[in-house]
Amino acid sequence: MENFTFYSPTCFVFGKDTESRAGALVKRFGGAKVLIHYGGGSAVRSGLLARVQTSLEAEKIPFCLLGGVQPNPRSGLVYEGIELCRKEGVDFVLAVGGGSVIDSAKAIAAGALYSGDFWDFYSGKPIEQALPVGTVLTIAAAGSEGSPDSVITREEGMFKRGASGDAIRPRFSILNPALTQTLPPYQTAAGITDIMAHLYERYLTNTKEVEVTDRLIEALLLTMIHEGPRVIRDPDNYDARANIMWAGMMAHNNSCGVGRSQDWNSHNIEHELSALYDCAHGAGLAVTMPAVFTYVMKHDVMRFAQAAVRIWGCQMDFAHPETTALEGIEKLRAFLTALGMPRNFAELGAKEEDIPRLVEALCRGDGRPGYISGFVRLDEKDCAEIYKMMV
Ligand code: NZQ
Ligand code: ZN
Repeated sequence: MENFTFYSPTCFVFGKDTESRAGALVKRFGGAKVLIHYGGGSAVRSGLLARVQTSLEAEKIPFCLLGGVQPNPRSGLVYEGIELCRKEGVDFVLAVGGGSVIDSAKAIAAGALYSGDFWDFYSGKPIEQALPVGTVLTIAAAGSEGSPDSVITREEGMFKRGASGDAIRPRFSILNPALTQTLPPYQTAAGITDIMAHLYERYLTNTKEVEVTDRLIEALLLTMIHEGPRVIRDPDNYDARANIMWAGMMAHNNSCGVGRSQDWNSHNIEHELSALYDCAHGAGLAVTMPAVFTYVMKHDVMRFAQAAVRIWGCQMDFAHPETTALEGIEKLRAFLTALGMPRNFAELGAKEEDIPRLVEALCRGDGRPGYISGFVRLDEKDCAEIYKMMV
């Protein structure tokens, strides 16, 4: 196991009706003037936004509102939010929504205290200070409620890039599984896929002897395999939603990733798809993961075979471990398809003729060196091959 520092100071408040505690939590974490940031309308329609406002009013905390965050959030609204925070003297950003809203809130929080262009953080500059952020989560997926990361798309060039820093880890996150019951099945399934990708991208490691994190990841993946189909069959199943929501947080606050190298090639390859086609990130991952895993499998067949046996219940073929490894990848693909996720470019809305453009953005865009690296290093030719496998 490698050396690590793990810092995860978010206060998680989990369960039914917990959004009524938003005002008290903002107060506890020092907020005196709040920006409530939300998305395209689901939080308005469900009455959640009104309940959050009521809880701030009960604590006599003034607030201003900025809605309209779209999935795969854009830089334009971030600039608007930064201006608004400065003009209104905001000292706390409260995100009410999914990963897109939370990521936009984190970008605003970092940008509000920075004199340069906030995009510097998405070009590699670490985030060292930010306004405090709190979240009321409405979809189990991105894990942004517990992560130090934010992913934003810059309209100019349509680059989708990530930024990181402990300063943008939420001070608190309210997780009420019942809020996710209004999700359309496709979004629920995309969220499940993203959670599984966060686990797989950590499972694919070059670090030896990391049994504790291997076993945590396996437990969470087994939970997703059990609960995913249950929640698609029965969307109002609170307990299934609760297990998925907490698994989603644990999958990405890095408690499963410490002390080991991680992959993230699938995420990088996917991000170009959701940047160009505006597809759901999880749906893009459903198409990306099986292709990437099949392409890189030979790098460490036994790791994929181990996943196949421990996660998917395959029988180990000691004479031909690559058969077992492939079987595990096929089981993952079939599982995601059964949830309702796309299998290929056509079902995702992507186009084969765009592959050169995707590869260029992925490997060269925004100052990249001509390759991406994770579990294995992938150059432009590798990435083109992988995109072709998805057609
Ligand atoms: O905008 P509204 O109207 O709220 O609709 C949203 C949106 O259309 C809807 N929705 C959310 N909660 C709902 C709901 N509809 C009905 N009922 C509810 N309770 O769902 C749609 C998707 O929302 P979004 O926030 O985009 O989903 P998600 O949480 O999957 O976030 C995706 C974004 O997170 C990034 C992705 O790249 C993508 O941009 N990621 C962020 C990470 C991080 N910060 O750590 C890590 C991830 O790997 C990921 O890259
Ligand atoms: Zn993800």
